Amino acid sequence: MTTSTEDNMNSLLKISNLQVSLGTKYKPVKIIRGFDLCLEKGEIVGVLGESGSGKTVSSRMIAGLFEKDESSMDAGEILFKGKNLTMLSEKEMNMIRGREIAYVFQDPTMSLNPYKKVGKQLRDFLDTHDIEYTSESLVNTLKEVGINRPETVLEMFPFQLSGGQNQRIMICQAILGKPDLLIADEPTSSIDAMLRKKILDLLTDINRKYGMAIIFITHDFDVAKYICDKLVIMYGGLMIEQGPLERILSNPMHPYSDELIKCASSLDSGDSRLYSLEGSPLVPSQFRDECPFYNRCAYRIDSCLEGIPKMVDVTGGSTRCPVWAERGKSRV
Ligand SMILES: Nc1ncnc2c1ncn2[C@@H]1O[C@H](COP(=O)(O)OP(=O)(O)O)[C@@H](O)[C@H]1O
Ligand SMILES: [Mg+2]
Repeated sequence: MTTSTEDNMNSLLKISNLQVSLGTKYKPVKIIRGFDLCLEKGEIVGVLGESGSGKTVSSRMIAGLFEKDESSMDAGEILFKGKNLTMLSEKEMNMIRGREIAYVFQDPTMSLNPYKKVGKQLRDFLDTHDIEYTSESLVNTLKEVGINRPETVLEMFPFQLSGGQNQRIMICQAILGKPDLLIADEPTSSIDAMLRKKILDLLTDINRKYGMAIIFITHDFDVAKYICDKLVIMYGGLMIEQGPLERILSNPMHPYSDELIKCASSLDSGDSRLYSLEGSPLVPSQFRDECPFYNRCAYRIDSCLEGIPKMVDVTGGSTRCPVWAERGKSRV
């Protein structure tokens, strides 16, 4: 039998205490103050939080998508298959990106040039990342992601296609190299609700078929509930709770997670008086050495102002709220 520490050492991705500043050239601003993640082969982890909580910055850091002079990693490490990604050269990282780690952007225009034919873009991508392919494998992968008439679409420009079709082409590009890890940054937020479920089903199929692990970024608990095995919840540049989806849903261990779940369930119930979270999310200029959720928290006590709370282990994960962790213990 292996211990959990040994399991972690063999994890596909293991991120510990990631801290990131941006805008290094002029005045660095601390954006990520503590982000951890442990992902096994074939798992789907949701990174969940309101807009501005640091989901995109953390995930772009994992994929090495920042220019060196634009970002600095202040602490932590990102171990992918045991290799520390932050120690790799740009050339080495470029070989991993596309082949082993793929990234799907929220907005297809971030990675698709609207005026370059789809076929040319996909072939250029495959050549850049040195991924072998044949015309047949290209057509088959397009079919697999639900593109009808793939031969015709290869000769078309992205601006001639719908948002949903472009999102499928991005997913096709991401899976062509059969990566071990797919990072999908809010892939369904720029498409309409009808298509959303189809894209989520497509990602689930890909995950099952290839055993591809997925980091799924979303601000929407309903979407996370549909697709994720486990969750990392972020607030104010900090991970504030992590654990299996079912446990967090049934027994959240941080007041912020509890609020997010209440917002999602009020949508489920179809109640016209939708529950919404009071106040606004924290922005980096408001970061202090205290619990990030203090101002919006109904359970706050004076000691929450004494430094950023550390993550504490609870049954089924960990939380940055010592008050609820203690309460949880007394409930067991
Ligand atoms: N290049 C940048 N320079 C300075 N601040 C940034 C930069 N990019 C993002 N931010 C800030 O970092 C915070 C986290 O952003 P982001 O990761 O995009 O949030 P999310 O994806 O959770 O909505 C936000 O407050 C945002 O304004
Ligand atoms: Mg984002």
